[in-house]
Amino acid sequence: MQNTLAFAQELDKNDPLRNYKSQFHIPTSPDSMPQIYFCGNSLGLQPKNTQKYITEALEKWQREGVRGWHEGDDWISYLKYLKEPLAKIVGAKSSEVTVMNNLTVNLHLMLVSFYQPTKTKYKVLMEGGAFPSDQYALETHLKFRGIDPKEGLLEIFPRAGEHTLHTEDILEIIEANKDSLALVMLGGINYYTGQLFDLKTITETAQNLGITVGFDLAHVIGNVPLQLHDWGVDFAVWCTYKYLNAGMGGISGVFVHEKHHDKNLQRLAGWWGYDEESRFEMKPGFKPMTGADGWQISTANILPMACLRASLEIFDEVGMDKIRQKSEQLTGFLIFVLEEFSQKNGDILNIITPKNFAERGSQVSMLVEKNGKKLFEKLMQNGIIGDWREPNVIRLSPIPLYNSYEEVWLVGEALGNSC
Ligand SMILES: Cc1ncc(COP(=O)(O)O)c(C=O)c1O
Repeated sequence: MQNTLAFAQELDKNDPLRNYKSQFHIPTSPDSMPQIYFCGNSLGLQPKNTQKYITEALEKWQREGVRGWHEGDDWISYLKYLKEPLAKIVGAKSSEVTVMNNLTVNLHLMLVSFYQPTKTKYKVLMEGGAFPSDQYALETHLKFRGIDPKEGLLEIFPRAGEHTLHTEDILEIIEANKDSLALVMLGGINYYTGQLFDLKTITETAQNLGITVGFDLAHVIGNVPLQLHDWGVDFAVWCTYKYLNAGMGGISGVFVHEKHHDKNLQRLAGWWGYDEESRFEMKPGFKPMTGADGWQISTANILPMACLRASLEIFDEVGMDKIRQKSEQLTGFLIFVLEEFSQKNGDILNIITPKNFAERGSQVSMLVEKNGKKLFEKLMQNGIIGDWREPNVIRLSPIPLYNSYEEVWLVGEALGNSC
């Protein structure tokens, strides 16, 4: 690699995804300068076709009112636009995925079904420093079940002086606690470090010991290809407002493995999960739809679903393999540029995201011991939008669908100018 404009432009010229940027709205600064947006790990950008699908739904509502649920391109079956493309993204059967609520709500709903503690087997393994909402969800969920979170939650932390976890340490803690663990519940990619866990191996190890496995895939979906069905993962939840570009607070997705569909698991139910054929007969006694759809509770949220439909159209066209391929090169180039800057400036940056590509997605997190906030603000002043996580981490996520190698090269330029 070379940290030069010519090298970056050559990569852009050969990039099969280079034209997709024009399908997104790129934010501008207050003085209307286009920005370099490396924040798709927080809120993905708006696809230009989002407005079309939202307008379509609004106009149908204007024209048809309540008839819209059942007539023409009816809202009742709107899930049909979402299930197949989502199933491809997570490596699942279409019957194993559904779309509903928001992520943390869905995590609670999955815990109702999949966390079945007994007197001896009641612990939940999670990563220390998991996203706060996951921590709060598990803490309160355990309390609700009458289990003291101090007793029931087992957190795994990096080794002393390190920032990320070793797979062997995760497997070891699972093995050591096999008799008391009921559930392994990890974020697929840690939001702070950007570390991608070995989900296949963790699932295999835990399940061989009779432990249920679920993942929060907020930072994985649309970022890294998955094979949830083949890996045998029990359940997963994700949001759609990051890499999936489905808008602020966008609707969440859920995966429930086929092996659980006929088990009559505990669940909190509502009418939207009721057998579709007879839902409107309004009879007492809950009879779930088969598959993940049976976990739906409330009336479909058509407007957020329309946003998701727009975004999935692009993912379906491109496919996760091409996205992952570019992501590897793009983040590899970013790390190269950052390291060169760091070396020239007294090793000012400590990149904590694993350098090994198999252990990261699109996000690169760097720890800046001194003047981190100043460096971050300099990036912002140069129109480079990343985010800052307390106490001293800058996160930058170049996104294959709308970022270029030249933009990554400009990070080095902006940082170079700032010292
Ligand atoms: C890993 C992770 N879990 C949970 C959440 C919270 O999701 P929601 O607010 O949609 O419930 C987020 C939000 O960014 C997240 O990154």
